[in-house]
Amino acid sequence: MSAIRLIRVLFYGAATQRGATKTQVRRVWSGCSSRSSLCGQEGAQRGLSLTAAASQFELSLTKPPVSGVVSSKLWNDMLEVKFGDGTEGRLPFVWLRDNCQCSQCFSVEGLGRKFLIDDLDVEVQPTKVEESMQGLTVKWSDGHQSEYSTNWLQNRAFTPSSRALHREKYALRKEQWGAEHRIKDFDYNTLMSNERVLLDWLLTMERKGSAMVRNVPQKDVAGQELIEHIAFVKQCHYGPHSPVINRPNSNNVAFTNAKLGLHNDLPAYEHMPGIIFIQCLAQHPGAGGESIVTDGLFAAEELRRKHPEDFKILSSTDMYFWDKGHANYSWEMPEFYKIAKFPVIKVNGNNEVVQIAVSNTTRDSHMDLPPQEVKKYYAAYKRFYIILSANAMTFKMEQGDMMTLDNVRCLHGRESYDADSQRHIETSYLDWDEARCRRRRLQEKFGCFI
Ligand code: OGA
Ligand code: ZN
Ligand code: ZN
Repeated sequence: MSAIRLIRVLFYGAATQRGATKTQVRRVWSGCSSRSSLCGQEGAQRGLSLTAAASQFELSLTKPPVSGVVSSKLWNDMLEVKFGDGTEGRLPFVWLRDNCQCSQCFSVEGLGRKFLIDDLDVEVQPTKVEESMQGLTVKWSDGHQSEYSTNWLQNRAFTPSSRALHREKYALRKEQWGAEHRIKDFDYNTLMSNERVLLDWLLTMERKGSAMVRNVPQKDVAGQELIEHIAFVKQCHYGPHSPVINRPNSNNVAFTNAKLGLHNDLPAYEHMPGIIFIQCLAQHPGAGGESIVTDGLFAAEELRRKHPEDFKILSSTDMYFWDKGHANYSWEMPEFYKIAKFPVIKVNGNNEVVQIAVSNTTRDSHMDLPPQEVKKYYAAYKRFYIILSANAMTFKMEQGDMMTLDNVRCLHGRESYDADSQRHIETSYLDWDEARCRRRRLQEKFGCFI
């Protein structure tokens, strides 16, 4: 199609005022219509438009710009731009200036801003705007000149779609589940050798918070090795992996044959481990040792709907969790004493549930509450636990199975088993920062965001 270059030079000069408009040039450009089908099964299951938009959005980074910026006008301290493919965006002046991409303001190697907030005038105004097939050139009231590529601008244009795409790049939308959930299976060796399958596991973990790895080698570091294939182990005072057996002089109730109620691991850490790998090296042959798993996010939303007062209490009252003890093994910390404090249901600034922390064994007996609020707190906690249990699934892991769970979302437990059982579970952890980091890099590699 036509490669005609369209350049408009607009002089706004001293007359740059709120609401000032300029004649717009309309031009139809041949937009990039490439679509990627590299997203795999998981991507294909998602809404096509978002998927297609996302892959187009990322793939376009490697292509020459095809649409350009065809027009712009000033509106309320923003530049209203129209791209060659017909899409539009509103770009606040202060944001544009702050994000100048020139080498003086931004390090291409370090991918970081060099421009200091000290030097930012929040009232900055453009004095001249030039539109082209490449993007935008802006001269500013502070004397600086900035250039922005079309794709760079389009990807950040404050539109609902550009914001949604980046939100998903940050963290995938979680899909809640109840007792009928079927945990997706993965094969250990395939995960270790096939990056597309590894990406599928990463996507599954982010969306569902649960997966099952089968045919895990019969060695206690198999979980650790898989984690090291993804990134690195989240260390804790129990070391890189923990034998969950009925230990003599056990330093944790988990390392006995006792029943464990639904819990997350290590809420005594302010930064709880993101993903737990629970590997079964030997299962108890008779009744006992069964696993219980539930989606804490589903239960929290159920609580919010049905018992909003309880949700408010659990999401606004900090609880203490603690873990104190001595090493059972040489690789454990000789003496540890952790205390963390946060609400059982943690919400973010948008009131979205971002973490569940439940653990009967490490919930502290210290409560930072006036005594008259304690009974009400317990009632709310108990109602939440009943919802968690009512939607839990029970099954028995077999030798060679490794359950992987989002440890800040899903809760797990186990039935008690005979004290002299040979049952042997191993646990290891991976943090979400590392898992999401690998997911984004694999998505980039396969040209598949979302
Ligand atoms: C644990 C745990 C599960 C099991 O050690 O924290 O939950 O099946 N173990 O023994
Ligand atoms: Zn600059
Ligand atoms: Zn556990």
